[in-house]
Parts: sequence; structure tokens; C-alpha cells
Amino acid sequence: KNIILLGPPGAGKGTQAKRLEETRQMVQLSTGDMLRDAMASGTEMGKRVAAIMDRGELVTDEVVIGLIQEKLEKGAGGGFIFDGFPRTLKQADALEALLAQIGQKLDAVIEMQVDDTALVRRITGRYTCGTCGAVYHDDTRPTKVPGTCDVCGGHQMKRRADDTEEALKTRLMEYYKKTSPLIGYYYAKGQLCPVDGLAEMDAVAAAIAKVLDKA
Ligand code: AP5
Ligand code: ZN
Repeated sequence: KNIILLGPPGAGKGTQAKRLEETRQMVQLSTGDMLRDAMASGTEMGKRVAAIMDRGELVTDEVVIGLIQEKLEKGAGGGFIFDGFPRTLKQADALEALLAQIGQKLDAVIEMQVDDTALVRRITGRYTCGTCGAVYHDDTRPTKVPGTCDVCGGHQMKRRADDTEEALKTRLMEYYKKTSPLIGYYYAKGQLCPVDGLAEMDAVAAAIAKVLDKA
């Protein structure tokens, strides 16, 4: 099955996408991760998007649509989890067309509902494993051994350059202006499935599993 995880920065999209990869053999397609990989490896595109991402603004539709297209061509056994894509109506239309080209469709759009006050602490407390990408949090999901990844044993914990209160303001503004219209768009198509993103991680995972089993 192919699903979108839709929600503001810090809603828990990446956390839940990683769990679905482990439990359902689905493939996470995070445009944010792809762009950060491009920045880290110093590609031309990576250099072009770096300042935009650090400020918290959206990069152009063309860039992210191109990234998704490349990945879709490779296929996925258990289906795709779109994480942080689409973020504009133009991206949503492009996704529909790209899936149709490979004879597939979208099965559900999971709207992860959270409130803004929770997001600040979610974002400022986040760190990730630089080796495997596992997502942690100072308060709600610390590593068992400080500085060591529970998943891969790696020792390189990282914090994102855009995880500051300042950049978060811009990211939230971008979300409300450009991405939140997708909620109405998918509701009208009968594909929207709201989930309480403020619940504990296991409860959120259970709610998503229920949606997937019905879709
Ligand atoms: P992107 O990487 O997509 O970031 P984002 O949407 O801001 O989302 P986050 O990764 O911050 O949050 P998340 O929902 O994944 O939360 P997480 O699971 O980590 O995009 C970054 C930038 O790239 C954009 O600003 C833009 O510039 C560019 N970009 C990317 N895609 C684009 C596109 N399509 N078009 C244009 N530009 C694009 O959780 C957060 C924290 O909370 C973690 O520490 C976690 O441990 C904790 N947590 C998670 N769930 C829970 C829970 N249930 N209870 C308690 N704590 C929890
Ligand atoms: Zn790791």
C-alpha cells in the first residue's frame, strides 16, 4: 500500500515511517532526508538548496518531484510511505500522475494532528543517528546508552541546522500557507485519515496500523 504521512514539522512523520519500514517492509521516501543527503555529499543541487533549507523555507517543486520520480522507478514491495512529500498542491498532482505511470495509486493519507505548542519541544529536543537515521528525543525517546544508537550502535548523534526556534517559525508558516491546503484536497477525495499525533509513539503506530489494515 502507498500512503502519505501529512503533518507539520515535528508531527512524528519520520518516526512513524521508520517503524513502518521495520514492521511492514514498506519503503520510506523522505524528501527532507534526500535533500539533506544531497547537501552532505556536496552535489550541485545540495549546494543550491542548503541555505533555503536552513532558513526553513520550501525548495522548488521541480527539485523534489525529480527526487521522488527517481525513487518511484525503483519500486517497493510493501509500498511507499511518502514522508514530507507532497507539500504543495502542485506536488500532490505530480504524485498522482507519477503513481499512475507505474500502475499504482494512493491508498490513504494520514493526517498527523498535533498542536503548535508541542512542536517546539519536539523539534528542539530532537537528535538523530548519523549512521542509520534513527530518530531520538532528549525527553521522550533518549538512547538507552547516552551517545550510542539503540538500532545500529553508532556513536554519531546529530542535530539538524533547521531545528532552531527561529527556523521552526518559518517552517510552520510555510506549512500553514502551502501544505495545509492538502488537508482539504485529500478530504474531498475521500482519502484523508486523521490520527492523533499527540498520543504516545506506540499509540500513534497502532492508529496508523489500523488505517493501513482498512485501506
Ligand atoms: P523535512 O525533513 O521533511 O522536515 P519536516 O517536515 O519539518 O519534518 P520533521 O522531520 O521536522 O518532523 P517529523 O514529522 O518527521 O518528526 P519526527 O518523527 O522527527 O523537511 C526539511 C526541509 O526540507 C523543509 O523545511 C524544506 O526546506 C525541505 N523540503 C523537504 N521536503 C520538501 C518538499 N516536498 N517540498 C519542498 N521542500 C521540501 O519527530 C520529531 C521529534 O519528536 C523526534 O525527536 C521524535 O523522537 C519525537 N516524537 C515523535 N513522535 C512522538 C510522540 N508520539 N510523542 C513524543 N515524541 C515524539
Ligand atoms: Zn543508528
